[in-house]
Amino acid sequence: MTNLTNQTTVAKDHDLSFDDWDEVNSPRPELCDFDHVVDKAMSRRGFLGALTVFGASSFLMGTSALTPAEAASRLSFEQVAANTLDTVTLPKGYNWSIVATWGQPLWSRGTEFDEATRGTGASQELAFGDNTDGMAMFVDGDKHVLAINNEYTNRSIIYGARESKLPENADDVRKGKAAHGVSVVEVKEAGGRWNIVTDSPLNRRITADTPMELTGPARGHDLLKTAADPSGTTSLGTWNNCGNGRTPWGTYLACEENFNGYFSSSDENYKPSAELSRYGVKTKDWGYAWATADERFDISKHPHEPNRAGYIVEIDPFDPASTPKKRTAMGRFKHENAELVIASNGQAVVYMGDDERGEFLYKFVSDGTYAVGGDNSDLLETGSLFVAKFNDDGTGEWLALTPETTGMSRAEISIHTRIAASKVGATTMDRPEWVSSHPKKAEVYCCLTNNKNRGVKPNAGGDDTSVNGPNPREKNNYGQIVRWQPEGGDHVASGFNWNLFVLAGNPTVHSDAYAGSANVNADNMFNSPDGLAFDTTGLLWIQTDGNYKNEGDFAGQGNNQMLVGDPETGEIKRFLVGPKECEVTGITWSPDRRTLFVGIQHPGEKSNSHFPGGGASVPRSCVIAIKRDDNGLIG
Ligand code: FEO
Ligand code: CA
Ligand code: CA
Repeated sequence: MTNLTNQTTVAKDHDLSFDDWDEVNSPRPELCDFDHVVDKAMSRRGFLGALTVFGASSFLMGTSALTPAEAASRLSFEQVAANTLDTVTLPKGYNWSIVATWGQPLWSRGTEFDEATRGTGASQELAFGDNTDGMAMFVDGDKHVLAINNEYTNRSIIYGARESKLPENADDVRKGKAAHGVSVVEVKEAGGRWNIVTDSPLNRRITADTPMELTGPARGHDLLKTAADPSGTTSLGTWNNCGNGRTPWGTYLACEENFNGYFSSSDENYKPSAELSRYGVKTKDWGYAWATADERFDISKHPHEPNRAGYIVEIDPFDPASTPKKRTAMGRFKHENAELVIASNGQAVVYMGDDERGEFLYKFVSDGTYAVGGDNSDLLETGSLFVAKFNDDGTGEWLALTPETTGMSRAEISIHTRIAASKVGATTMDRPEWVSSHPKKAEVYCCLTNNKNRGVKPNAGGDDTSVNGPNPREKNNYGQIVRWQPEGGDHVASGFNWNLFVLAGNPTVHSDAYAGSANVNADNMFNSPDGLAFDTTGLLWIQTDGNYKNEGDFAGQGNNQMLVGDPETGEIKRFLVGPKECEVTGITWSPDRRTLFVGIQHPGEKSNSHFPGGGASVPRSCVIAIKRDDNGLIG
């Protein structure tokens, strides 16, 4: 299979990001009602006026009355300056080391990473996957396991040894599929360093070919049936796992995001259905060429295959023989992460973002209740889905997605969740990324990373995307973090109050709303908040996946980074700067909170990094362990 049918068309695009690819390949109609946008912008300025007293607490959320200057800072580290170095920069008194790197064998029968070939299908199947993303540490006795998403691959890097910088044969496709999915690895600390336990019986690679079970309302539905699976109950593989979740019963949640980019059509006259189009499935893939070696990715032959991706996958990290379960009850969209909290009545509530411009924020509520120490293995199999409606006055409502509200069956709501949400009038958001819930009170935060289409064009379902309360800036290139408190402190409640924790911006370039909120200044500024996690003390760790060109609107912001915010005062300080052209994503702590694990994804995505090897080495995604020099607590 040396002549890929789509190779010439994708060659020029091999190093485009998913966003850029989407923009180039699916330009949406320009439907801008200018007057409407201006009206909203006026009310936006009024709203921002309220925000400038952030930290003085008056805007709805009842935060501390102390300003950052008045309160003793809880951020007890020296802020790191923005930079464009090709390494990881931490505050004084902290150190980092590598835990796992793309291509590193997990078993002794594997082979060491080969810089010249960048691996083969066989070597990759036995090795740590590419583009590390969401992760969680699990502990059982003296065993520490990290479950880590391997979101996608940069074709120009993993196929960098190929003339085309793309897969050129079936083994290249095999390598690509094996570099995706989830890596489950036992890790051990010795001498202040964490390393993979090679040959641990707990090590596991879950890839785009691992058997999965389809559970929940859509299980067995006609839309999930394919030639290979006429029952519609089993599927192969998971890919494009972005953020993650974890459950109190010890399972890992891997969240399928841009699943659409892997499908293509051998029939150039094939027209994807409106439903497939809502999810961005097109006749050309994003350069992965999976259909050339695995026919199920050819949508003209297997149009239901894309309906079997875009879910949350529940994985038992301590049972390598277990079958991962796709939880259709939690909806199908471009899942970012899954933040699970147990409500006061015991129901599991999971907050989930759909990361695409103008898409929505969701909440799942389990039918059953969590039993401490009991069997919770099917708690995520059935439940109710809701989608967020934010009102400009600081209130909001979770709208139920039911047969009555949508005219769709439960199975259809589970499969075509975006369409259901459009029907009930949910609020279009600026790309909801990670959600994180405060550990000490009922208050939930979500990164809205950016949205250049805000106020410019509708979402893929035709929904209006004029500026609105939590998304107050048109052509939003900086992003913001919204937070809400459920009514009565009850995560099951349908009402909530909301405000913005921060509007990212650049006060050295702008003096209007694009300068950011009052807790952003020339020293801590950033763009495109994405990864988000509370530590157990209630500090908020913010990771960025933004523009790192360090000029124009982004002058002085440097490489992607990780910051820490204090929800009570609004104070934000930069803790880490990543290497060139990376995204900082994925975060978890050791149980003793003396190690913080962070993902460094795609350093050198545009070929300008040699992290972590240095010299002339191939840049490789990796997980790092951060410790204090005195082995003190982090966060
Ligand atoms: Fe994979 Fe929305 O980031
Ligand atoms: Ca992300
Ligand atoms: Ca992102």
